[in-house]
Amino acid sequence: MVKSAQITIDGKTFEFPVVEGTEHELAIDIGKLRAQTGVITLDPGFKNTGSTSSAITFLNGEEGILRYRGYSIEDLAEKSTFLEVAYLLIYGELPSKSEFDKFKEDIKYHTLVHEDIKTILTGFPSNAHPMGVLSSLVTSLTAFYPESLDPNRSREGVDLSIARIIAKLPTFAAWSYKNQKGQPVVYPRNELEYVPNFLRMMFALPTEDYEVNPVVARALDQLLILHADHEQNCSTSTVRIVGSSQASLFASISAGINALWGPLHGGANQAVIEMLENIRKDGGDTKKWMDKAKDKNDPFRLMGFGHRVYKNFDPRARILKKAADDVLESLGVVDPVLDIAKGLEEVALSDEYFIERKLYPNVDFYSGIIYRALGIPVDMFTVMFALGRLPGWIAQWKEMRESGEPIGRPRQVYIGHPARDYTPIDKR
Ligand code: CMC
Repeated sequence: MVKSAQITIDGKTFEFPVVEGTEHELAIDIGKLRAQTGVITLDPGFKNTGSTSSAITFLNGEEGILRYRGYSIEDLAEKSTFLEVAYLLIYGELPSKSEFDKFKEDIKYHTLVHEDIKTILTGFPSNAHPMGVLSSLVTSLTAFYPESLDPNRSREGVDLSIARIIAKLPTFAAWSYKNQKGQPVVYPRNELEYVPNFLRMMFALPTEDYEVNPVVARALDQLLILHADHEQNCSTSTVRIVGSSQASLFASISAGINALWGPLHGGANQAVIEMLENIRKDGGDTKKWMDKAKDKNDPFRLMGFGHRVYKNFDPRARILKKAADDVLESLGVVDPVLDIAKGLEEVALSDEYFIERKLYPNVDFYSGIIYRALGIPVDMFTVMFALGRLPGWIAQWKEMRESGEPIGRPRQVYIGHPARDYTPIDKR
């Protein structure tokens, strides 16, 4: 086993400990690097930097492995439910029956939101992107529950905030959609389970009965499981770094929602469908778009392809590829966009450019197709991702808080002007 690493600077050698994870991942602990040597490391995009030690999620990008608390994503997606996975991520173990019943009851108890939040919601123009509405409504919880701001909250207090945010996020998400549609909001019905309750709040109308389709509910539950955590990605790192200043859970989650929004992260599922639609409208010539993606002078990228960590295959994408076929067949959906997706996938998987760079379809490539088949509107796709990622964000925030991590504060290499004298405006 590697125990230490040497770094030589200008002929002088310094020794640093090497840390080994449970799955034998090795990391040079450079915590004392600057103090001992006067230099720092430079790693834009943190491609080689471990920001923390975490016991929540294991990911091996080369072998396409993803596990939550030791359980494989394949097992959980097939046998578990989203709320059980949420409990596992947040509290570290699968719940006993009584623990799970209490967890679910606590969540059901808090699904309603304060009526004044409706005033905030209706203040948004109807064309507001639901991700912006979602993050704003989550921030508003800090005003309705000011006690949540206490950085030294008791464990019970933190658990209460956790139950509140898990309970209210589906209500916020569905209401942001209703606001966009100009339809009256639908209140939660607590005899329903988590996902059916959400689907009803999204799609029920006061003019007709609404029956939750179990195929849709199960497919969505599985999608949420697959999105529930993904270790130190952009939004999760955001949640941890915001929380490291002792900002509250609600403030940290709201920041995570904003970080997720971009098309290179959670926004990719929306971007995938928009791209496929554009290809279809353009006549469906996949080769033309592949060439654009490979052209370094063209900013276009093939959305839903490539991943910072997975360089073999994305195990979530493998599960979803099959789920997409099952869901479309079971709902009898015929989608021309799916044919374009399949064509694109086929071409990309045999193209030298994509093979060389190890660019494979990622989770967002298929999730967008399933969301579309389930009747979820395109600009709600990233909101679905946020609903799924919530337990991961909570678990990571809680872990960071409980292990007493220091405030996140990277350094930089300054490349601006050296010191210069101020010139008055009439002399410039
Ligand atoms: N289309 C065309 N070329 C690509 C793509 C793509 N989708 N992704 C990467 N490349 C090329 C890139 O141009 C570069 O080429 P070269 O070495 O010749 O300069 C090479 O592949 C490496 O790419 P990179 O940008 O250095 O890789 P990264 O790890 O910084 O970026 C990524 C990862 C996911 C941001 C990127 O692959 C991408 O932009 N994909 C499309 C957006 C997307 O689907 N995002 C969802 C990610 S999965 C959900 C999540 O976890 O958020």
